Amino acid sequence: MTDAIRRHDPLVKGFASDNYAGVHPEILQAIALANEGHQTAYGDDVYTRALQDVFRRHFGPTAEAWPMFNGTGANVVALRAMTAPWEAVVCAESAHIHTDEGGAPERSAGLKLLTVATPDGKLTPELIDTQAWGFGDEHRAQPKVVSITQTTELGTLYTPEEIRAICDHAHQLGMLVHLDGARATNAAAALDVPLRAFTTDAGVDVLSFGGTKAGLMFGEAVVVLNPDAVRGLRYLRKTSMQLASKMRFVSVQFEALLAGDLWLRNARNANAMARLLADAVRDVPGVEVPRPVQANAVFAILPREVTERLQKRFRFYTWNEATGEVRWMTAFDTTEADVNAFAAAVAEEIRSCM
Ligand SMILES: Cc1ncc(COP(=O)(O)O)c(C=O)c1O
Repeated sequence: MTDAIRRHDPLVKGFASDNYAGVHPEILQAIALANEGHQTAYGDDVYTRALQDVFRRHFGPTAEAWPMFNGTGANVVALRAMTAPWEAVVCAESAHIHTDEGGAPERSAGLKLLTVATPDGKLTPELIDTQAWGFGDEHRAQPKVVSITQTTELGTLYTPEEIRAICDHAHQLGMLVHLDGARATNAAAALDVPLRAFTTDAGVDVLSFGGTKAGLMFGEAVVVLNPDAVRGLRYLRKTSMQLASKMRFVSVQFEALLAGDLWLRNARNANAMARLLADAVRDVPGVEVPRPVQANAVFAILPREVTERLQKRFRFYTWNEATGEVRWMTAFDTTEADVNAFAAAVAEEIRSCM
C-alpha cells in the first residue's frame, strides 16, 4: 500500500514526445525484481556486470556500456571522453546537443560545437568538410569528433551505408564519430537491421544509447565501441554527475529492454503508429506533411488557429513558429485508437476553422 495518490488520468495521451509516455510494464517488473536486499553501489552490482554481456550481444565483443541517468548527460560524458580541451565537435545545426541541451556541451564540457546547416538533419562527408578544416592551426578549435543523431531530430534516418561513409571520411581526417542514439531502437526497427548494423559495423566509435524513449523509467548508456576513442570515462561520468549510486536499477531496466525483443516491439509499435497517423492526416485538406515519416515522428504544417485549438485537447509542440510546422511523436504505448482519435480531432478542428 502507498500513501501516494494518482494525480493524472492514465487514459490521456498526447503526441508531444516519446518521453511523455510512462514506463513499460516489463521494465517496472524488472525494477521490482532487482529490489530488496543490498547490492554494492556505484555499478559494482550483479545487474550492471551482467549488462555488459547483454550490450555485447548487440554491439559486439569489444562494446563497453556505461549506464547514465539521462541523454544530455550521456552525450556530454561521451563527448568529453572523446576530446581534448582544444578540440571541437562537428554536428548538424539541428542536433540535440546544439539545440536542446541548454548549452550543456559548452558549459559542462567546455566544448566548441561547429555546426552545419542541413536540409534534413543529416550530415554527409561533403557537409562535414564545411567545418572539418584548419587542422594544425592553433587559431581554430581542432575538429575531432563528428556527432550524428539516429534517428535525427527531424525524424529522418541514416542508412547504414550513409553512416559508414561518414565514419570512413571522419577517420581519414583523423576524427572520431559519436552517434546520439536517443532513438537508436526506432532506427533499427525502421531499417529492419540489427542495432550494430549502423553503429559497430558502420565504424561508429562511441554511442549514446537511448533507454528512456524506448520504454525505460530513466536511463541511457554510453556504449564505447572503439576503446581507443575515449579517455577517462570512469572519472568523467562521476564529475559530470552521471554516476548513479543505485545503478542496479538503471542496469536492470536495460537488461529487460535488450535481453529479449522488448526494444524491438516497442520501437516497431511507435514507428507503426507514426505511419498510421501520417496516412490518416496526409489527405486532410489544410494539412501538409512536409517531411518523410521514417520512424516515430510526424511533422505537419497546419493553420495556426487549428494548432491552437488542437493543443487545448492534445499535447504537442510547435516546431517552427515561423512556418506553423508542428511535431507529433508516437511512443511505445501509442495505440491505433489514440491515433484515430487524434486524426479525427485534426480533421474536426480544420473543418471548424474553414
Ligand atoms: C536526439 C536526442 N538526444 C538526446 C536526448 C536526451 O535528452 P534528455 O537529457 O532529456 O534525456 C533527446 C531527448 O529529447 C533527444 O531527442
